[in-house]
Amino acid sequence: MNILLLGSGGREHALSWKLAQSPACTRLYAAPGNPGIAEEAECVALDVTDHGAVIAFCEAEEIDLVVVGPEAPLVDGLSDSLRAAGVPVFGPSQAAAQLEGSKGFTKDLCARAGIPTAGYVRTSSLAEARAALARFAAPYVLKADGLAAGKGVVIAETLAKAEETLADMFGGAFGGAGAQVVIEEFMAGEEASFFALTDGTTIVPFGSAQDHKRVGDGDTGPNTGGMGAYSPAPVLTADLQARVMAEIIEPTVRTMREEGNPYQGVLFAGLMLTAEGPKLIEYNARFGDPECQVLMMLLRDDLAWMMWLCATGKLDELDARSPEFEAAFALTVIMAAKGYPGTPEKGGAIDLGGPHHEWVKIFHAGTALKDGTLVANGGRVLAVTAMGRTVTEAQRIAYEAVDAIAFPTGFCRRDIGWREVEREASA
Ligand code: AMP
Ligand code: GLY
Repeated sequence: MNILLLGSGGREHALSWKLAQSPACTRLYAAPGNPGIAEEAECVALDVTDHGAVIAFCEAEEIDLVVVGPEAPLVDGLSDSLRAAGVPVFGPSQAAAQLEGSKGFTKDLCARAGIPTAGYVRTSSLAEARAALARFAAPYVLKADGLAAGKGVVIAETLAKAEETLADMFGGAFGGAGAQVVIEEFMAGEEASFFALTDGTTIVPFGSAQDHKRVGDGDTGPNTGGMGAYSPAPVLTADLQARVMAEIIEPTVRTMREEGNPYQGVLFAGLMLTAEGPKLIEYNARFGDPECQVLMMLLRDDLAWMMWLCATGKLDELDARSPEFEAAFALTVIMAAKGYPGTPEKGGAIDLGGPHHEWVKIFHAGTALKDGTLVANGGRVLAVTAMGRTVTEAQRIAYEAVDAIAFPTGFCRRDIGWREVEREASA
């Protein structure tokens, strides 16, 4: 089949690498892609906000499957337009993508379906929000309702800081995303991510991971899109995964279907492992970046085939052994451009070095080719990914590769995987 992949980050490089390995894949296109993706796919310029142009491309190139990498086109309804034109697409409809696009939507769904999550109130004015603070205790969790590129959540330590943040949110600091604000109870615990593929009815667990959201070593500094990840996450034991499926994922997929908004694609649950059990922090309607890089590193099965089964409502036909992952760990270290997550320095030269260890794969995120030289062209630039029999080994191999890369205007965290490395050392 012919496949069109949308996106240009490290997540999409990992997806393109895996899709290109698929026996079912004849031609692979990516829009807009990046220099790493260009090694796997033919990169084309397409404006994904122009649904008519994407459909015309699919018709001209006889595309059998569109894979949507990032959330914005999903929330914008691209899947609906493609499906209406008869093009199978991996990724939820606009209505179903509200699971990521509106925090209030997801909280209300959890309340209706009895899904464990933090207590909350939805507010739509500053006065209402300030009054609601009295029902919570510090630290206050404040969330702009809409998409805010991972920056719409503030944990305020004091009432004064919470009031100030609410004024910023309703004052337009997050644009339209802050027209409504969700105030939540604070949950204590360790965070983990869980993934499932679904065609709206059948659900297949698709691995676990832990991300590192803060920019600095020891989980310090501002939040980012993610500075590194590893998979699987052993804190999410088989028992806990079974609970997550039964208490969170299955009721979500069932309720979405029963309410006429079947969810199709990958469902990415951000979880808090609390003393009372796993609770939902948030959903994403797409793979995580960089969680996708570690999942793809371990995936042994045919990704294109699984995505096509999701897109066509046939996931029940998936072999019972699938999805199969390597019995190993994968760990990825993000090399970012100095300045990230503020204003990253663009144009710095990169020499990827090598040859690297056979268990290393370097995924491109914000890179570009300038006069034949690879340069930085974004905040997160490379995802240096390795496998190992333990997280400790995967970490060592990943940092050996990082140290062999020359990228003077870049930086990375040196402690990706620290939680698990500490646990492995004390085991
Ligand atoms: P979100 O964008 O909803 O995933 O929130 C971003 C981050 O804020 C999460 O990864 C958590 O670290 C933190 N967070 C969000 N909601 C809560 C909560 N109710 N209690 C504690 N931490 C939270
Ligand atoms: N790494 C977190 C995310 O993709 O949302």
